[in-house]
Amino acid sequence: MLKKAIACGAIVCLATGYAALARAADPSAATGKTLYTANCTICHGADGKGQGPAAMSLSPKPQDFTSKQFWQTPNIDTAIIDQIKNGKGQMPAFPNLSQDEDQSLLLYLKQAFQPK
Ligand code: HEC
Repeated sequence: MLKKAIACGAIVCLATGYAALARAADPSAATGKTLYTANCTICHGADGKGQGPAAMSLSPKPQDFTSKQFWQTPNIDTAIIDQIKNGKGQMPAFPNLSQDEDQSLLLYLKQAFQPK
């Protein structure tokens, strides 16, 4: 009984410790995925193709992150970060994301959607 209580305590500890770490950690695709799911899928879709539930009413539509052409845009990394910071067209800006969070999103977009 006592052993069980200690184990549960450790898990709760770990879970809360992880949340704090995730916020402070270096940019990572894992953090990026969490941010993308919370903030971006509504328009860009979980599959990155720009067909999220809110995309229907948008014009122009969000780009397809899985297209080769998208990634061939000159200075694409800077363009992506810039877009997140400042928004464009019907995409809102996300000025409250930290620099590390922006980088995490970029890492995730590349890992999840860029054609290899
Ligand atoms: C309300 C819908 C909406 C949300 C939420 C949204 N976007 Fe967008 N996004 C758009 C639209 C629309 C465009 C196309 C804008 C245009 O070209 O006029 C776009 C374009 C982009 C582009 C293309 C930039 C380029 O240079 O071609 C990137 C990258 C992007 N969004 C990333 C994100 C990320 C990351 C998030 C979450 C943090 C996000 N978006 C959230 C609607 C959205």
